[in-house]
Amino acid sequence: MQPTLAYIEDLARRAGEILRAGYGQQHHIDYKGEADLVTEVDRASEALLLGEIMRQFPEHSIFSEESGERSGSAEHVWYIDPLDGTLNYAHGMPLFCVSIAYEHGGQLELAAVFDPMSNELFSGERGQGAWLNGKPMQVTNPPSLRESLLVTGFPYDVRTNPRNNFAEFQRFSMLSQGVRRLGSAALDLCYVAAGRLDGYWQLKLSAWDLAAGALLVREAGGVATGVLGQAEILRQQNGVLAASPGLHAEMLAVVKEVDSARPS
Ligand code: IPD
Ligand code: CA
Ligand code: CA
Repeated sequence: MQPTLAYIEDLARRAGEILRAGYGQQHHIDYKGEADLVTEVDRASEALLLGEIMRQFPEHSIFSEESGERSGSAEHVWYIDPLDGTLNYAHGMPLFCVSIAYEHGGQLELAAVFDPMSNELFSGERGQGAWLNGKPMQVTNPPSLRESLLVTGFPYDVRTNPRNNFAEFQRFSMLSQGVRRLGSAALDLCYVAAGRLDGYWQLKLSAWDLAAGALLVREAGGVATGVLGQAEILRQQNGVLAASPGLHAEMLAVVKEVDSARPS
């Protein structure tokens, strides 16, 4: 049995309601790393999502941020981030979301990302399109990188990882109209799909951060690959590069140039 788009949209809204209800409250915070937090709200949202999916689709596999992998059928795979933007959330910054993607036979089929603070539901289905609150989304087609507004994110291990994105950030800041850093990879991708931002890159991400947003960018007419152009974005941590086809090519050349100049 397979889920429908309406089903995962409903799940995203219900989990988003848990995030909205807990927003601005005092949180219990556990540290997975110095800047990598998890709150009781991440866990409550995840418990709702896993409970529902396991009840409806007990044979499916699920990759979810706080519980890791629940292995089942390789044909049916879910990628879930119960709260993307936890650092924003814990600081009372209203920029976070729930991200849910469903893959069938190795292909991403359904995606729903819900931002409960703006009441925005980004959703899409392979071959059918992508929508923001029911209205079709389309990526921008800027004439060049110079006329583009970009967004990026940094890994939690910036202090120790030489691939910390600082060189890329500097280069793109010089070549574009500006670079934003919002703190939610799933929303970064949705904003590219919705044409609010022109392009997004990040060097390292997990499948649950990007699966839903990548499908939405593709369904909105854009390209989403690994940061160095790799086709594989879910089973290896290749990061992401997402934009319209023309801008994607231009950004890819910049990322490759910066990467090859990095001391090894
Ligand atoms: C993080 C956010 C952030 C990105 C990090 C992610 P989390 O997810 O998406 O924007 O830069 O790499 O890990 O921890 O808030 O779910
Ligand atoms: Ca995340
Ligand atoms: Ca998360």
